[in-house]
Amino acid sequence: MGTHKRNPVFLLLASLTFLLFSFAQFCRAVNDTIRQGETIRDGHILKSENNYFQLGFFSPVNSTSRYVGIWYTFDQKAVVWVANRNSPISDRNGVLRIEVEGNLVLRDGNNNLVWLAPVSSLANNTAARLHNSGNFVLSRNDSIDDSDANTALWESFSNPTDTFLPGMRVPVSSKLGVSKPYRSWKSATDPSPGNYSMGVDPNGGQQIVIWGKEGRRWRSGQWNLQFFIGIPYMSNNVSSFHGFKISLPDETGTMYITYKPPTQDLFRFVISWEGKERQLKWDDDKKWLPLQSEPDPDNKCELYNYCGNYATCDRSNSRRICNCLEGFKPKFQDQWDQENWSAGCERKIQLQCQSTNRTSRENGKPDGFKKLKCTKLPDLATLLPSEENSEACGKRCLENCQCKAYAFVTGIRCMVWTGDLIDMQHFQQFQQAGNFQFFYRLHHSELDGGRKISNLVIVIICVVVACFLVASLWLLWRYKKKVKVSSMPCCKDDDVEIFDVSKSKRKEFSADLSGPSDILIDENQDNGPELPIFNFSVVAAATKNFYEGNKLGQGGFGAVYKGELPGGKEIAVKRLSGKSGQGLEEFKTEIILIARLQHRNLVRLLGCSIQGEEKLLIYEYMPNKSLDNLLFDATKKAELGWRTRLNIIEGIARGLLYLHRDSRLRIIHRDLKASNILLDAEMNPKISDFGMARMFQGNQNEANTVRVVGT
Ligand SMILES: *[C@@H]1O[C@H](CO)[C@@H](O)[C@H](O)[C@H]1NC(C)=O
Ligand SMILES: *[C@@H]1O[C@H](CO)[C@@H](O)[C@H](O)[C@H]1NC(C)=O
Ligand SMILES: *[C@@H]1O[C@H](CO)[C@@H](O)[C@H](O)[C@H]1NC(C)=O
Ligand SMILES: *[C@@H]1O[C@H](CO)[C@@H](O)[C@H](O)[C@H]1NC(C)=O
Ligand SMILES: *[C@@H]1O[C@H](CO)[C@@H](O)[C@H](O)[C@H]1NC(C)=O
Ligand SMILES: *[C@@H]1O[C@H](CO)[C@@H](O)[C@H](O)[C@H]1NC(C)=O
Ligand SMILES: *[C@@H]1O[C@H](CO)[C@@H](O)[C@H](O)[C@H]1NC(C)=O
Ligand SMILES: *[C@@H]1O[C@H](CO)[C@@H](O)[C@H](O)[C@H]1NC(C)=O
Repeated sequence: MGTHKRNPVFLLLASLTFLLFSFAQFCRAVNDTIRQGETIRDGHILKSENNYFQLGFFSPVNSTSRYVGIWYTFDQKAVVWVANRNSPISDRNGVLRIEVEGNLVLRDGNNNLVWLAPVSSLANNTAARLHNSGNFVLSRNDSIDDSDANTALWESFSNPTDTFLPGMRVPVSSKLGVSKPYRSWKSATDPSPGNYSMGVDPNGGQQIVIWGKEGRRWRSGQWNLQFFIGIPYMSNNVSSFHGFKISLPDETGTMYITYKPPTQDLFRFVISWEGKERQLKWDDDKKWLPLQSEPDPDNKCELYNYCGNYATCDRSNSRRICNCLEGFKPKFQDQWDQENWSAGCERKIQLQCQSTNRTSRENGKPDGFKKLKCTKLPDLATLLPSEENSEACGKRCLENCQCKAYAFVTGIRCMVWTGDLIDMQHFQQFQQAGNFQFFYRLHHSELDGGRKISNLVIVIICVVVACFLVASLWLLWRYKKKVKVSSMPCCKDDDVEIFDVSKSKRKEFSADLSGPSDILIDENQDNGPELPIFNFSVVAAATKNFYEGNKLGQGGFGAVYKGELPGGKEIAVKRLSGKSGQGLEEFKTEIILIARLQHRNLVRLLGCSIQGEEKLLIYEYMPNKSLDNLLFDATKKAELGWRTRLNIIEGIARGLLYLHRDSRLRIIHRDLKASNILLDAEMNPKISDFGMARMFQGNQNEANTVRVVGT
């Protein structure tokens, strides 16, 4: 022994062995499961498999009391659950174990019961495991690896303290009523139950509520199946930001609020000891960051009903944060002026339905609703899910004198408020949630009240507008009359007369264009009666297949295109729209008629082309377009000298003289107007479009016809 004692190698070996032994002990303690008969002593810990969570004994900051709790491995101050928050252990002799009955029990050094997991039904052979989610689950030994909550005899997630973790399910049901499973710590150093609790109020739409000693302190606004409508930043970032869900009701009518983070990040939601809801995310920079994009811890508007009843809180309003709803006035003006908002506002005028005067109640104008947007809807709504739409919802509200307001929100449907309108907030940005409106009831005179002055303005505006309309109608009528005087009806009653002229000749006009046309009055002095028929493909090629860029104009008859024949000759091609409903017979008659009329002041038809539905008229091209182009264009008008004007007038007169007298056909143009006078390169006027009206039956739209340009 003596030699041994003096041997330092032996000492080293001994201490190494001891160290190894302790390390092995330690390793055995670092485990995620505690089984029946096993104990966790102060100083030992359970670790979740992913090593995110630890369970063991701890003391809060500045405190010597010992608690059993769960915290993050990487941030031991972030305690997410406490077992014995009401009964701290004063020394370090506490023991957590599963006792013979299968129960999870915490005892102090004197073996006194400190805490007991409230298990409803016990099993003989149990174990408890700290899951990767941070959930500490007691279940039968054989189903300990089962993560299914149904096999759990007890779990820490169903007995939370102040922290909501992803994976927790908060039950919500009207039968259960208000549930407040989360309770703040008393202070930063004391985990015992504090003044604030957090939970869900299922009445009037599920919403998350924080309660203080005096009642509600904050609420999230109702859940619309996507987000809580009172949290603007949440509504703006539904998909990526939050994973909150409320499950569909199960057979007992209970729904569950769950949270599934959209990312792998670690989240926790805490009701802090100061009564604030903290939404935190573990950042790569090794600290907890608040989730809100604009955290504003001093936002007074977030305090429940900060501005009192019938007032809205608007923190972007620099003048005053609280404002009465329109139609309401501060209950106590002096307090209001001193920024003591708590008394809120009251109606300026009693609702008509509440009037004590029977006569005015029954005979007066009914109350109305005023619309408000970008609002956190008041608390304590009543849901009327059977109402299909906003109108029905409003009707239901109007029927009930107690109903002060209504709103129709997708996902919640009809909401009405029969109590005071409390905890309203005005939001600056409420993009997604902004698509619902809130209507509150007012005496009809209040609704008009805002508009009393503007009503007068509206009346004046109406009168002025009416006068203006009448005047312009009269002017238009005058103008139209003028136009008509010069261009007279196109194709209405006296159509027949002209048509008769051609009709009488109809049988003489051979349907065959190439046939002998000697029957036709030999008015054609210079040119032969033959009207060249163009091959459709040639015309199509000349106009680049009726290329839009070549379009000169569009009229009721069809479009006019500029084209260039292979020889380089420029042409204008009128393509009769297929839907103009004219027969081939009339078309041919008409073109022969035009072809026979040859005068230097009439536009010259070069030919035609008929192929199937396609009917084309080919005219000579007029580089200077129509007269109206010049007359009604300020700059071009100036270029139009008096000599040219005289020439044009003379030319038109000559053309008319020819039509009316010198030609044997006696054509009445009937649609003579500036747009139908074309000008060639030398500014010689040429009457065009004459007789075309005859090609169309009475159903032709006159106005449309008038708009033909370019031919
Ligand atoms: C936990 O410890 C028990 C024995 O105490 C052992 O059988 C089991 O494998 C350990 N589990 C883990 C995950 O280390
Ligand atoms: C703990 O005590 C120290 C010193 O008294 C104090 O400065 C600190 O704020 C305390 N911490 C908490 C969380 O109360
Ligand atoms: C537990 O097991 C014992 C015997 O091993 C048995 O007497 C007892 O009834 C069992 N208890 C339960 C609740 O199963
Ligand atoms: C619990 O089950 C494990 C295997 O699943 C077994 O090794 C262990 O002995 C069981 N413990 C008790 C107390 O029955
Ligand atoms: C909780 O309420 C008590 C009594 O109303 C008060 O003294 C204490 O300061 C409150 N604590 C917090 C954190 O507000
Ligand atoms: C939405 O959430 C994502 C992820 O948290 C964030 O990057 C983004 O800035 C948020 N967008 C808005 C508009 O808050
Ligand atoms: C604010 O007004 C209420 C009554 O409406 C009163 O009880 C309270 O003391 C006032 N608060 C302040 C700070 O004046
Ligand atoms: C009731 O109202 C009607 C009309 O609104 C009015 O003429 C009548 O004087 C009122 N009666 C009372 C008792 O106020």
